[in-house]
Formats: sequence, structure tokens, C-alpha cells
Amino acid sequence: MTTPDPRPTLAILISGRGSNMVAISKACLNGELDARVALVISNRPDAPGIQAARDMGIDTAVIDHKAFASREQFDNAMHERLAEVQPDWIVLAGFMRILTGDFVNRWQGRMLNIHPSLLPKYPGLDTHARAIAAGDLQAGASVHIVSPELDAGPVVAQVRVPIEPDDTPDSLAQRVLQEEHALYIKALQLCVGRKD
Ligand code: GAR
Repeated sequence: MTTPDPRPTLAILISGRGSNMVAISKACLNGELDARVALVISNRPDAPGIQAARDMGIDTAVIDHKAFASREQFDNAMHERLAEVQPDWIVLAGFMRILTGDFVNRWQGRMLNIHPSLLPKYPGLDTHARAIAAGDLQAGASVHIVSPELDAGPVVAQVRVPIEPDDTPDSLAQRVLQEEHALYIKALQLCVGRKD
């Protein structure tokens, strides 16, 4: 008889590359994070991250937003799939869809997002280009609790990186991403827990 796994469960939502998802999944596998990834969902069938999750032996689902007539219908389909798994936390990791207030309220307080800016600066898109255009000396990333307003929930953890004089949005995005993985694991340790 197998004993049930007592660790809290995560469902990770992605839209693309999935490097944050892979870092979090590895942290669960190596015990750095006291949690288990129960499901990875992508809203894009061609997201490279979905194959990366399969390669790690994680259950995956593709829920293509283009197959739904409205944002509400897509969010309902996501909710139904998530409800089957009943994750303790939903982890948005490069998930590039705006979620409806109804969806957010159903999982309120149990959903985290990583955003590549020093929130409350630069919610939304093109954060690195906006930071460079503003002449900022620092950029960074924030992990926050998801609230109905876009990129506006309470910040759990942040990391800062310098903006160099010759930075492009791509070079800055790369430097920020290198820090995002450890940041997300740290934020999850704070919210979900770690084995001592
Ligand atoms: C990350 O830089 C993340 O901060 C950003 O998308 C990238 C996903 O990379 N998220 C957002 O812009 C959300 N508004 P990944 O797929 O390799 O984790």
C-alpha cells in the first residue's frame, strides 16, 4: 500500500518557454521546496514548456484559449480542470492571459504570479523596454499574490538587478530572468513551506 503524499500541491500555468516552471519543479524534486507539482497547464498547444513538463514526468493539460468564444468560458474550463486536482496553490509562471475577476476570486489568496518589473512599477507588457526608456538604474522581478486587478496584488518577494548603459530590452530580460527562478522558489518557500 502506498502512503499518500502529504506535501502541498502546486498547479503551474504557463504560456511559453516554461523556465520558471522547470526551476520550480526541480526545486520540488530535490526537496528545496516542500511541495509537489500536480499539474502544468498551458493555454498554448505549442508552448515549449509543456514538453519540458512531460519530460519531467509531470501531468500536463493544454487548454487552448483560442477554442473558447469568451474569456469567461476559457476561465471556466481552466477552473474545472484545476478543481479536479484541487491544488493548494496556483502558480502563474509566464502565463500571458488576463484572468477574469470571477476566476481570481475563486482561487483568491492561493494564486501567485511572477512579473518582470519592480511592482508597482510597470504592470502589463514591455516592462524592460519601459524601464530602459524611463532611464531607471534598476529593474527586477516581483512575485505577488494575484488579485483581480492586473499585476496589483500584494508583493511577496522582489529581486533587483542593475540596468547597464548598453542594455536592450532583450539583454535586460535575460539578466532579470536569471534571478527570477531563485526568487520564485524563495517566494514559494515563504508561502507554501520547506522541509528543514
Ligand atoms: C518571465 O520573465 C516572467 O516574469 C514573464 O514571462 C517570462 C516567462 O518566462 N511573465 C510576465 O511577463 C507576466 N506578465 P518562462 O516561461 O521561461 O518562465
